[in-house]
Amino acid sequence: MLIRKPTDIPPSEITPRAVYRARRRFLLAAGAGLAASLLPAAAAGVTVQPQVRRKLSPIVRGPYGTDEKLTPYEYVTTYNNFYEFGTGKSDPARNAGTLRKSPWTVAIEGEVKKPKRIALEDLLKLAPLEERIYRMRCVEGWSMVIPWVGFPLAKLIDWAEPTGNARYVEFVSLADPEQMPGVRVPILDWPYTEGLRLDEARHPLTLLAVGLYGEALLDQNGAPLRLVVPWKYGFKGIKSIVGIRFVERQPVTTWMRASPREYGFYANVNPEVDHPRWSQATERRIGEGGLFNRRIKTLMFNGYAEQVGQLYSGMDLRKYF
Ligand code: MTE
Repeated sequence: MLIRKPTDIPPSEITPRAVYRARRRFLLAAGAGLAASLLPAAAAGVTVQPQVRRKLSPIVRGPYGTDEKLTPYEYVTTYNNFYEFGTGKSDPARNAGTLRKSPWTVAIEGEVKKPKRIALEDLLKLAPLEERIYRMRCVEGWSMVIPWVGFPLAKLIDWAEPTGNARYVEFVSLADPEQMPGVRVPILDWPYTEGLRLDEARHPLTLLAVGLYGEALLDQNGAPLRLVVPWKYGFKGIKSIVGIRFVERQPVTTWMRASPREYGFYANVNPEVDHPRWSQATERRIGEGGLFNRRIKTLMFNGYAEQVGQLYSGMDLRKYF
């Protein structure tokens, strides 16, 4: 029986000691390697797995656009975090292409009127596809501007019919060692999971994405279905989703479990709250100015404060980081 709050439990108590030690070593190395990893794989000439590129249509132009310069496609598809395909930035592009995306279903579970399973084709009938150009900011200190294709998660939530007890939404990624080489290594607790408060999940900015640059997502970007929450650090954008659970209590996410001191449930982009090992005040735009591109100031809620600030009014954002 879990008596203490999950966030109070050190990961050493949750995970076997050897796995925990290996993970700590890895997380520390990841921090130290930040500067080196700023050289995008595209620039480093990575050999990527050829994948079928499929145009999506029709797509309507969605709201919340930005006129900032788009991050080139080659960078968006070769500079990735997707640990199921390896921990290096270019590993996902190198190792991807093995995901079986059809048939693909998503299990809708927990506090819903009736649990159900929806096939990707039916999910795409819930709402028209929109292009949304969002700024994305990673906790590691880099950012991109990406033309996503998807529809508001709120449309799926309405279809799922959550009960009055649903206060949070938990998302679960596929974890198949056969299709995903990274899952054979216990670097994270598989499957990868994420969570949002129900009002965050319903916010019109929150997107279920199936594509980018007008085409279906490639494996490395989370095919065939992923989350995009532009005011939060990129790690909230869970990829290759197979489960969506409506729950009463705040879920413990993969990164909270891996390192609770460093990664909180909220993960809002907040330049005033540093990561314990580095500042969050500035960021580098990937694909601009090579290795020596200048740092730009990070904005509160990644520049979406006007739209989402009220979700957190009255909350101490240092405590709920
Ligand atoms: N989802 C899964 N399943 N596994 C992951 O390792 N990494 C997260 C997030 N979603 C991750 C994931 C992190 S750390 C980031 S920054 C973003 O995906 C990166 O998304 P991108 O590679 O498409 O830019």
